[in-house]
Amino acid sequence: MKPADNLVVREAVNQDVEGIIRVFKTTYLKDESWARSALRRLLATSNYVMLVAELGGIVVGYADYYVLPSIWEKWNEATVNYLFVHKDYQGKGIGSKLLEEVVKRADKVGIAEIHVATEKGNEQAIRLYKKHGFLKEYVLLERVREPVHQLSENY
Ligand SMILES: CC(C)(COP(=O)(O)OP(=O)(O)OC[C@H]1O[C@@H](n2cnc3c(N)ncnc32)[C@H](O)[C@@H]1OP(=O)(O)O)[C@@H](O)C(=O)NCCC(=O)NCCS
Repeated sequence: MKPADNLVVREAVNQDVEGIIRVFKTTYLKDESWARSALRRLLATSNYVMLVAELGGIVVGYADYYVLPSIWEKWNEATVNYLFVHKDYQGKGIGSKLLEEVVKRADKVGIAEIHVATEKGNEQAIRLYKKHGFLKEYVLLERVREPVHQLSENY
């Protein structure tokens, strides 16, 4: 039996923050305390949905998305912001279960478009997204600069 068979995917709550951090630490996490405060702020953000995948009470995966109305079309659009599976649990169907849950929830509320983004060389993620029907390609450009010293919580 694949671990994904016993997986519970549910909405995250404040008590999941440490479990989510443990998952992030197995991948790219740089600053744990910043991530912790960012997660708390995102948990309190409207139209921002955070999901965790839990196996035997342990958080092993994380996905989130936000929903905004389209200006051009009469519908709402969702954008997956992050999708992460604990390094030791990758390749077992957990990323797929998380993405399926995002799609199921989006379908349920009539969201017509879901966007996902990843780096060009991230074959794992690209294959996962394509397998789940994310086939139309866009170009996402990014401008990066040295961070300012004074970080503001106001955008
Ligand atoms: C990308 C990621 C979320 C995939 O999660 P996962 O649980 O390992 O994926 P699954 O086991 O559900 O696999 C689903 C599909 O993804 C693709 N995939 C998974 N692992 C792969 C690998 N090592 N190489 C290539 N494709 C892979 C395959 O298409 C796979 O389907 P298949 O098994 O039928 O071929 C996970 O690898 C991860 O957390 N990576 C680090 C963070 C990241 O890059 N997130 C992506 C968005 S920024």
